[in-house]
Amino acid sequence: MGCVLLTGIAGFIGSHLGESLVRDGWSIRGVDAFTDTYALGQKRDNLAALSRSPMVQLVTGDLARDDLHGLLEGVDAVVHLAGEPGVPASWGTAFATYVERNVIATQRLLEAATAAGVSRFVHASSSSVYGPDGGPLVESAVLRPLSPYGATKLAGEVLVGAYAQQRGLSTVSLRYFSVYGPRQRPDMATHRFIEALLDHRPLVVYGDGRQARDFTFVADIVAATSAALTAAVATGSVLNVARGESVEVRDLIGIIAEELGAEPRIEHRPQRAGDTPRTEGCADAARELLRWEPVTDLRSGVRRQIEWHLRRRLETQEPLAGAAAGTLSHVVLPVSSPRTPEEPEAVGAVGAVGAGELPRGPR
Ligand SMILES: NC(=O)c1ccc[n+]([C@@H]2O[C@H](COP(=O)([O-])OP(=O)(O)OC[C@H]3O[C@@H](n4cnc5c(N)ncnc54)[C@H](O)[C@@H]3O)[C@@H](O)[C@H]2O)c1
Repeated sequence: MGCVLLTGIAGFIGSHLGESLVRDGWSIRGVDAFTDTYALGQKRDNLAALSRSPMVQLVTGDLARDDLHGLLEGVDAVVHLAGEPGVPASWGTAFATYVERNVIATQRLLEAATAAGVSRFVHASSSSVYGPDGGPLVESAVLRPLSPYGATKLAGEVLVGAYAQQRGLSTVSLRYFSVYGPRQRPDMATHRFIEALLDHRPLVVYGDGRQARDFTFVADIVAATSAALTAAVATGSVLNVARGESVEVRDLIGIIAEELGAEPRIEHRPQRAGDTPRTEGCADAARELLRWEPVTDLRSGVRRQIEWHLRRRLETQEPLAGAAAGTLSHVVLPVSSPRTPEEPEAVGAVGAVGAGELPRGPR
């Protein structure tokens, strides 16, 4: 099948996509900066299966700062998921980080991908590029992001379009809608609600709970992204990836509580700036062009996410004998400079300076 450069491989969506691409027969060069947006332990755990696969090279590197020369050598296609996620945290001084990780990193990777002549560049955009109109949202809607995060995701998307139009890169941007499922980021609502119920804590709800989201299961997101790698679509395409059903946050809580057999205690806090009242995506274009269909209903998806939370708790209580905390077994290869005979094949600790890191490059 060829080799995919998968950025953000240690993240929530990236780790699932990596596993799916390996199952489909792709080899993967996965790059991640292991940012501290949330616990590094969760990112290491996300990589447990991938780090054992001989089809996967893992590289620690920052796309916004490091020298990307060589990163795309031997790569056939790119999926760019790396970025700084999250709406509420993107105001104030944090914005600089969002610009660096969502805009600068994307532009630098686009340059490298153009120079390498890859066959396809798939980019993770977001429903946050839309304005306050609830939907069903179609790709041609007027874009009025409500948050600095949304503005940086839109900037990334616009840049991808420019490289498609002017530099001959074959691109697809996918606007993901509220992704949930096993390994979900800890700042996201479904994750927070499940953890609070398991701990018998009150559930913090921002606003009145009537805000609604088009919750889309991670395996459906992965299937669309994987299809976008090879689908015959016009370069510069932008497609919604959504289940197409808007569910109020209070109903999501109801489902989680029923599945856990728990009685939720809700603590309301003021609505946060940037939170849109409702999203519902129309994914007809993705259905047709990617020959894709979202197949996971909310209750089944929530059940699978709960199973992951429970399993994780068990594993934390009883660490597997012989599992060395904080190490990856197959973090390999410097991609931008040839390895010297003294340098080891595998690098141990994530984030340590070593042979699996990219050298710092010009900004
Ligand atoms: N989760 C969602 O609901 C959702 C919705 C819409 C769009 N998205 C987009 O999908 C992508 C993945 O989201 P996620 O929820 O898996 O987030 P995540 O934070 O779990 O994963 C992102 C990964 O990118 C890495 N990263 C960040 N900056 C980097 C850089 N400069 N160089 C290399 N690696 C870097 C991080 O360390 C992290 O592991 C993001 O681009 C996000 O904006 C996510």
